[in-house]
Amino acid sequence: MGFIVAIDGPAGSGKGTIAKLLGERLNLTNIDTGAMYRCIALQMLRNNIGLNEEEKIKDILDNADIVLKSEESEYKVYLNGEDVSLAIRSEEVSNFVSPMSKLQIIRDKLIDLQRKTAENADIVMEGRDIGTNVFPNADVKIYLDATPEERARRRVKQNMEKGLESDYNTVLEDIKARDYRDSTREIAPLKQAEDAIYLDSTNLTIEEVVEKAIEIINNSK
Ligand code: DC
Repeated sequence: MGFIVAIDGPAGSGKGTIAKLLGERLNLTNIDTGAMYRCIALQMLRNNIGLNEEEKIKDILDNADIVLKSEESEYKVYLNGEDVSLAIRSEEVSNFVSPMSKLQIIRDKLIDLQRKTAENADIVMEGRDIGTNVFPNADVKIYLDATPEERARRRVKQNMEKGLESDYNTVLEDIKARDYRDSTREIAPLKQAEDAIYLDSTNLTIEEVVEKAIEIINNSK
């Protein structure tokens, strides 16, 4: 097992951006676990599979080859060889993935995959349950947070940069609903690990958050 930095936090808290920059600066392999859940959601939507169709879900899980790659400065997600980096960010996928991600068979499979990726590498892994569940013994645990309003602003801006249209109020409502579902579900709810360091990014620039995260990492070495 290599060196593991676990970053958890709600949607739009900046986990993706921060994990990417930490990966580049500290030479860590960056694993976006939300992208894995999104790949399965996309595949279920494309095949019209409902949340209670266990056999069909199993089949999807057995046949999903998910590859996450940092290519130049872009983070790419491939599903069975297809570049789905953009498709997995649609609102349809965002709304489906949250209720879907509470299914135990999906979590078991993806957590297994997440643990395997860390076998031979130093990693920064971001998600909802990395410090609490996937790697309870991670070398560093950071819980990244921001107010729902700030997170909605960021998500709208991020979508715009990707050429996706979105409405601030709709995004804000979606974020609040997703926070509620992610933190109240029975299986692996979103919560701060007892030994995680809380980092509020609401009033910080990206650079300031990265600097604080590097300081936290250096202090725990
Ligand atoms: O980080 P994200 O918004 O791309 O994550 C998409 C969804 O996947 C989110 O609603 C919660 C779920 N998820 C999870 O349950 N566990 C993780 N480790 C990562 C994401």
